[in-house]
Amino acid sequence: MAKTKTVYVCSECGADSPKWVGKCPNCGEWNTYVEEFVAKETAQKRGVPGFGDERQKSRPMLLKEIASEEEERIDMKNGELNRVLGGGLVKGSLVLIGGEPGIGKSTLVLQTVLGLEGLKTLYVSGEESGRQLKLRADRLPYDNPACHILCETNLEQIFVQARNIEPDLVIIDSIQTIYTEMIESSPGSVSQVRECAAAILKYAKESGVPVLLIGHITKEGHIAGPKVLEHIVDTVLQFEGDQHYMYRILRSIKNRFGSTAEAGIYEMRQNGLREVTNPSELLLTQSHEGLSGVAIAAAIEGVRPFLIETQALVSSAVYGTPQRSSTGFDLRRMNMLLAVLEKRAGFKLVQKDVFLNIAGGLKVNDPAIDLAVISAILSSSLDISIETGTCMAGEVGLSGEIRPVNRIEQRILEAEKLGFNRILIPHNNLKGFDHSKCTIQLVQVKKVEEAFRQLFG
Ligand code: TYD
Ligand code: MG
Repeated sequence: MAKTKTVYVCSECGADSPKWVGKCPNCGEWNTYVEEFVAKETAQKRGVPGFGDERQKSRPMLLKEIASEEEERIDMKNGELNRVLGGGLVKGSLVLIGGEPGIGKSTLVLQTVLGLEGLKTLYVSGEESGRQLKLRADRLPYDNPACHILCETNLEQIFVQARNIEPDLVIIDSIQTIYTEMIESSPGSVSQVRECAAAILKYAKESGVPVLLIGHITKEGHIAGPKVLEHIVDTVLQFEGDQHYMYRILRSIKNRFGSTAEAGIYEMRQNGLREVTNPSELLLTQSHEGLSGVAIAAAIEGVRPFLIETQALVSSAVYGTPQRSSTGFDLRRMNMLLAVLEKRAGFKLVQKDVFLNIAGGLKVNDPAIDLAVISAILSSSLDISIETGTCMAGEVGLSGEIRPVNRIEQRILEAEKLGFNRILIPHNNLKGFDHSKCTIQLVQVKKVEEAFRQLFG
């Protein structure tokens, strides 16, 4: 057996050093060095041999000599996933799907491969046994007879099987459970993850077979393992949502073959994930007539507009320090909005507990929901409900001004389509949008005070 030695590896960027250091000289992060054992040879011979491992000599080419072909894509038979990937899975690409445990990563991927009839797939599971996968597959209403399951964690073995089967698509669930014999550290460690991902990338590029990697995330919400993992792969998708709710959002964080503005929405059901093609249904299921503390925001997720309910509860603080809690909305941003409310609307919120919730357990990043959030809080505080049929979109600035938002016409049209009769929008946001055909009443507001006057009289 090869003699081992110890190195210290930065868990952020993957840089290594023979000694422990407090601050990484490469990325500047503090306290990120962890001890790892590596085999002697690998220290000199970097990288794990990949698929075939022929060393191809490359030579420089003129840019104009390089043919600009459209990438060949595999239709994933799943509209939301196709959209997030930028129109299908590019052949030879490496895609990483990250998300919290239990959110449904394995379900999403298994369901997708089972739906790809006629495509030979290899699903490598390092986390579940064949029986467990079978039980899961039995719940799903799909069947792909050419789906091979391999319960293996050794990378070299996986490559051997991939060479035997010659699949059209490989799934690795998850990258943190896979290890290569070339390195002695345990699976999931920085160097294992880095080397395995690099070898898999090489396999994908050389064979043209796309590979989907599933990745764990840390408690801070980052993908576990070195940051280099995200640099190595072509596409990083994040599967998020609240486990206690049914809805899930698949976001693209990085995509070499498409836009990162896309997002897919799913609903977790008894028989797998259902694509949500009309996101406004999240809202439409409930009636909230006459309820205070509810405001409807015309939001955009990815490039699609949808209406979402924001709910707030303001009550007298029992303890000295008032409680602030928010689900699906950035707490710091909510505190900022509370400060604006205090300053602009003269409401003493210091003695009040404030709870905020975005319906469906979704995390919405769109700043245009600010206006709905601040209105919901005020509505709860005043105990006056906002008229049904009214929705709003607008970012709130520090001085209480309502700032323009993107894609306003899409928001307006969506609100109109769903039967709303009034929408509050930022002043001067319409720029060239011909709204003469709109039946919905457009109320342009400059400041939060104006919006409050419109809503609460
Ligand atoms: P899973 O896909 O195992 O999550 P991950 O791989 O991200 O850890 O998550 C599955 C969760 O979803 C589990 O708690 C059970 C639930 N589930 C359903 O609600 N319906 C289904 O059809 C399936 C297969 C799972
Ligand atoms: Mg899983």
